[in-house]
Amino acid sequence: MYNRTRRLRKSPGIRRLVQETKLSVDDFVYPLFIEEGIGISSEIPSMPGINRYSLDRVSKELDEVVKLNIPAVLLFGIPSNKDDVGTETWNDNGIIQKAIRFIKKNYPTLYVITDVCFCEYTTHGHCGIIHDNDLDNDATLINIAKQVVSHAKAGVDMVAPSGMMDGTIQMVREALDNTGFINLPIMAYSVKYASAFYGPFRDAADSAPTFGDRKTYQMNPANRDEGIREANFDDQEGADILMVKPALSYLDIISDLKNNFDRPIACYNVSGEYAMIKAAEEKGWIDGEKVMMESLLSMKRAGASIIITYFAKEAARLLS
Ligand code: PBG
Repeated sequence: MYNRTRRLRKSPGIRRLVQETKLSVDDFVYPLFIEEGIGISSEIPSMPGINRYSLDRVSKELDEVVKLNIPAVLLFGIPSNKDDVGTETWNDNGIIQKAIRFIKKNYPTLYVITDVCFCEYTTHGHCGIIHDNDLDNDATLINIAKQVVSHAKAGVDMVAPSGMMDGTIQMVREALDNTGFINLPIMAYSVKYASAFYGPFRDAADSAPTFGDRKTYQMNPANRDEGIREANFDDQEGADILMVKPALSYLDIISDLKNNFDRPIACYNVSGEYAMIKAAEEKGWIDGEKVMMESLLSMKRAGASIIITYFAKEAARLLS
């Protein structure tokens, strides 16, 4: 007699009992684009439902996030002034620093994470200081340290360096420890690929490189072993959470990290993944809600306990 696996799929009751993976609102981090200025609430054309907000217009969005019980937001700043090194990133009165103070004051229960990078703040759109047409790793690290300390002083709950410079986590950990922020955790963008799935984000954050690409710092999508190596360095340097980005085309990497590291694993369900589902849904070609939930579930099943996603609000609504 053969095995009859269909016995445990016979009715909703038994399917519920044997379900291995469950999504929860507790898993979600919602990214937010905060733009310097007033009266701004502009929808990003390739990301329907996602807006850039100035601080005076963001409260409705934050009210909703809190009401839906989403635990955390990930902040991206869009400054009005850029320069060639991204000086605004460590301005204690910069847009991100103001946003952190605003949210912690008005929404004290919301956990605030900041993306730590330079691409939205540099005129050339690269993630640090450029020398000889390439990113100067160690010069950039010094500015990353200034940036995280400035975020920390503004009251951020966790920092997430996303620039893929070598030695970032060690530099950030030391900078925070030396300024008294020993309890501030780091979520490392450990395994971040040079991906075409970031397309819509670069419009959203005005952060597309004006020359070249990010292939000398972000990873080659063909590489899997290197993902473990990258995560290993971040793990040793003291990252509290390891992240894989993008998510959907990199479920194997999420699973590798889950199986190799004793740290919470996060993944970033990026802008292009969001845009594809929204576009196909708009055309009537897929059931957008079901595809959204199935893809979020796949990320959790692969091993991510934290999912950064533009779908957070919609998914939270369906889960409640
Ligand atoms: C870099 C950063 C990027 C994203 C998050 N942080 C863009 C990039 O590396 O080019 C992409 C997020 C997304 O596509 O949703 N600051």
